[in-house]
Amino acid sequence: MNRRRFIQFAGFSLVAGSFVTSCRTSTQARTRSDGVPIAKYRRERDQSLRLAFIGVGGRGLESMNELLGQCAVAPDPQFVSVAALCDVDLGMLDAAALGLPNARRYRDFRQLFREMQAGSIEVDAVMISTPDHTHAIATALALACGVPVYCEKPLTHTVSEARTIAAMARAAGVPTQMGTQIHAGSNYRTVVELIRSGAIGEVSFADCWDGRSWCCGAETPGALPPETLDWDLWQGPTPLGAYIKDVAPANWRRYWKYGNGTLGDMACHILDLPFWALDLAGHTGLRAEIRADGSPLDAVGCPAALEVSWALTWNSRPAANDPLILRWFDGGRISPTVQELSAKDKQDYGRFNTLFQGSKGFLFANYGEYLIIPRALASEVTVPPPTLSRPAGHQREWVDSVRAWTMDLPKGSSQTSSDFQYASRLTELVLTGTVAYRAQAPITYDFDTGAVGGAGAAKASDLLMRASRAGWSLSQGDLTAMTR
Ligand SMILES: NC(=O)c1ccc[n+]([C@@H]2O[C@H](COP(=O)([O-])OP(=O)(O)OC[C@H]3O[C@@H](n4cnc5c(N)ncnc54)[C@H](O)[C@@H]3O)[C@@H](O)[C@H]2O)c1
Repeated sequence: MNRRRFIQFAGFSLVAGSFVTSCRTSTQARTRSDGVPIAKYRRERDQSLRLAFIGVGGRGLESMNELLGQCAVAPDPQFVSVAALCDVDLGMLDAAALGLPNARRYRDFRQLFREMQAGSIEVDAVMISTPDHTHAIATALALACGVPVYCEKPLTHTVSEARTIAAMARAAGVPTQMGTQIHAGSNYRTVVELIRSGAIGEVSFADCWDGRSWCCGAETPGALPPETLDWDLWQGPTPLGAYIKDVAPANWRRYWKYGNGTLGDMACHILDLPFWALDLAGHTGLRAEIRADGSPLDAVGCPAALEVSWALTWNSRPAANDPLILRWFDGGRISPTVQELSAKDKQDYGRFNTLFQGSKGFLFANYGEYLIIPRALASEVTVPPPTLSRPAGHQREWVDSVRAWTMDLPKGSSQTSSDFQYASRLTELVLTGTVAYRAQAPITYDFDTGAVGGAGAAKASDLLMRASRAGWSLSQGDLTAMTR
């Protein structure tokens, strides 16, 4: 019996700002979780990595297929196999299992981790594509079992969870990746290189927008869940409540209990570009003053439209500089700068979702295209030589990193670009926008300590976290009990 050793994450606290981990060093954590040195797990190149997929409807199925497709690509195919599929909806589970007769099926991810712990199933890495409210708990169990994790965006449902997962990932030292697949695309990488090369000068503003409106969720008393869905398990760590008609699939985004509206859904993709280009993950002393304005606040459903601004400063930013301003617009709200530029240039810039304002000009971007204006500046700019890698895909970048890790190759020989240190900070940035909106007053946020201040601080400090259903918290005790 190959029993895994459950990693003890001593000393972390769910209270935002009070993290002190007495965690294992990353060298210790890179010993496999059953205590056996990684080298023992070295694989021949034709031996497959055994993957488990949790949440296999919707994006989960799509992402699994993307991963398998990216791994089959010549000239360097990567051999992976599907060891397990897990979904709380039997319909989704059956559909995903078509053509995968050897994959073991689970409805409850706790059972999967229990069996991994007991050594009755061998899994090398886990991909999590459940709704946002179950990201942190499934990810925490995977990290505690010492396995690499790919988790969909946003990394977590609350700011506090993001900080906890970052601390656990640091301690576990396993390859991680947040599911923002556009991050691997060449357009994002070219834009990052252009901005960093000074193509539009010093950047003072970046605006991002998305026309969607994941809003207005409401309770539906008396509704019953479909027969295929285990509603109790679907709720996971959320205190149990009545079923809401059509909440799954997808509509959970409209509810604070399970999602965070359009900002929570889309900003980890779109704000990722300025966050990356302006190296906001790399700065120490990063602080934001956050203001939000949106449709009238509702206790249950997310707003129809929202605008958020983050005024950002950090230690190495010259004191004479104004804060860097990031802004978000959704549900039909549009950046006034984009409106002005569109009117002036008699152009519809609506196909883009990001605008950088620099001292020399502007750069519009979306997932696949960029445009520098004015035209005179564009003609002067030369695209700098690539400084970032161009991976064969976001999932593949993670698989390659897992492979390197299992083979005990030196760190850096293959790394993910949206690992949980980067992704947790991006997720914190995004989610502090919803916190400021729900606090209905400006707040300040210190990314180093997790402390909130400002007029909305009292409400905001409650909104950084959420109440957990008994036995489902991220505490060491609950995590251990769940896999026993
Ligand atoms: N990267 C992207 O482009 C992208 C696109 C869409 C969604 N997403 C993200 O993917 C995640 C899923 O979104 P979706 O639109 O597919 O949602 P969905 O509701 O359509 O599908 C979620 C799937 O997970 C299953 N599930 C729910 N709770 C589970 C649990 N506790 N254990 C196991 N399975 C569970 C559901 O039954 C369903 O099959 C979200 O975090 C979302 O933000 C990312």
